[in-house]
Amino acid sequence: MLQLEDIDVKYGQRQALFGLNLHVGEGEFVTLLGANGAGKTTTLRTISGLIKPVRGRIRFYEEDIHGRPPSAIVSRGISHSPEGRKVWPFMSVEDNLLLGGYVHRHKRKLKDELQRIYDLYPRLHERRQQHAGTLSGGEQQMVAIGRALMSNPRMLILDEPSLGLAPIMIDRTMDLIRDIHRSGITVLLVEQNAALALEISDRAYVIETGKLVLEGASAALLKSDYVQQAYLGMGVAVQQD
Ligand SMILES: Nc1ncnc2c1ncn2[C@@H]1O[C@H](COP(=O)(O)OP(=O)(O)O)[C@@H](O)[C@H]1O
Ligand SMILES: [Mg+2]
Repeated sequence: MLQLEDIDVKYGQRQALFGLNLHVGEGEFVTLLGANGAGKTTTLRTISGLIKPVRGRIRFYEEDIHGRPPSAIVSRGISHSPEGRKVWPFMSVEDNLLLGGYVHRHKRKLKDELQRIYDLYPRLHERRQQHAGTLSGGEQQMVAIGRALMSNPRMLILDEPSLGLAPIMIDRTMDLIRDIHRSGITVLLVEQNAALALEISDRAYVIETGKLVLEGASAALLKSDYVQQAYLGMGVAVQQD
């Protein structure tokens, strides 16, 4: 469904991605792991067209999408829930959601999508008139995800949705993402919380300083020494007998 081939990205002189190859099949749930600064956000922003790669190719179905504007990429069915949620705090929940539906040219379609989101997340309906900034972190994350779903995407990409949330809200957010995937939407998830992400995804990639270092089935990665040491903090377990 989505294929990144040999992607290089630079910020000025500074290179952030080095020949990145990554693919996501239709209906898959794929996780992208990596430490702070590894290039996860850069990867997602490149897929969404917010950053142009200096080399390489991105295909979505049979079409090249690298170099296309973000609006064209959203129209083709990739929607992005950004790092830090980025809800507009002084706009109502409803207006935040409506902005996510800007690809729909007909008012009727926009209203239908809004209703669909309210049916899925009654909590957002209850709070639709409130400024988004007055909501809890978990509710704001729900607004960000709901806004991304307003374009009725085929693929949802999520950048660290659990960041800064209380443990109970992290669980709820992960449940919500799992439900979205079960509803038939392909998911590419960036997470710091490796254990959680590997538990709910099919496959995963690990990147380090802009380079792919590991890929495989999530269940296998969860058990691998590499991931346990680097991301699950089990590398220095003291053996006692
Ligand atoms: N706007 C930017 N300008 C310059 N360098 C950036 C910018 N955004 C990110 N970087 C650099 O690119 C690298 C990858 O960053 P990022 O993709 O945000 O990593 P991650 O999301 O994995 O934490 C880091 O070294 C970071 O400092
Ligand atoms: Mg990031």
